[in-house]
Amino acid sequence: MKSIQYIKQYYNKYYTDKLEPLFDKTLILQAFKPYEDDTKQGKWLSKQMGIKGDEKILECGCGVGGVMKQLALLHPRADINGINISDGQVEIAKEVLKDFDNCSVSIQNFMETEYEDNAFDIIYFCESMGYGNFKKTVKEAIRILKPNGKLYINEIVVKCDKDKLTKKKLSKLNHFIDSWFYNVYDVDIILSKVEEVGGLELINTSSFSKPSIHWMNAIRNGELKKYHNASLSNIPPVRGADFLYQKEIK
Ligand SMILES: C[S@@+](CC[C@H](N)C(=O)[O-])C[C@H]1O[C@@H](n2cnc3c(N)ncnc32)[C@H](O)[C@@H]1O
Repeated sequence: MKSIQYIKQYYNKYYTDKLEPLFDKTLILQAFKPYEDDTKQGKWLSKQMGIKGDEKILECGCGVGGVMKQLALLHPRADINGINISDGQVEIAKEVLKDFDNCSVSIQNFMETEYEDNAFDIIYFCESMGYGNFKKTVKEAIRILKPNGKLYINEIVVKCDKDKLTKKKLSKLNHFIDSWFYNVYDVDIILSKVEEVGGLELINTSSFSKPSIHWMNAIRNGELKKYHNASLSNIPPVRGADFLYQKEIK
């Protein structure tokens, strides 16, 4: 795991002005997602989270505000907040969201936020939890979630149990985790980690999609390819999956 400072500099350097050609096509920076199109992906995420429209919502690791923008278009009465450790991305997100009165973004670490207890109805992570300490992050989310509030985790997962991978696939996976400094678990490990933290009830989990074309294009050429020494043949057997939890009332 890299330090917060390292992740901040990495996102400031590689996912701001250098990614401008990508931002013309998508503002949602998920490597694994069912839809390439932001409008469709936003609708899908809204459905997965069960958003009704008047909730106080928080995105942890909000990138350049791409998911927030789609949710704001769908739910003008919702109060939508985003936090991100990268100040460079927060600046871009402010521009992306400038026409939406119901959106606000700030520079914060999702493992240690500035929010009061029981502040949100819905908290979601889209491919961001893997940068942090999993249990610490879940504990902090529970703290700031209202009783009965929902926690949505959209993650990159190993396709099968990690110990069922062949040596070659396991080595590809470990290389991926090291070079992208992103923790990737299998579904059962995620479920058991959350259960160990306690205080949440699983409502739904589903598994979806292969790598997005946008992400593959970003790693085919340019700075990201160089930085990660990335190649398509090095992508391990991983995919997207999501987990919807509800905070139990004590
Ligand atoms: C793969 S991007 C996903 C962005 C966004 N969720 C989306 O779907 O477009 C991961 C994001 O998490 C942010 N991040 C990583 N660790 C963080 C932390 N500890 N606190 C807040 N944000 C963090 C990164 O700066 C980056 O914006």
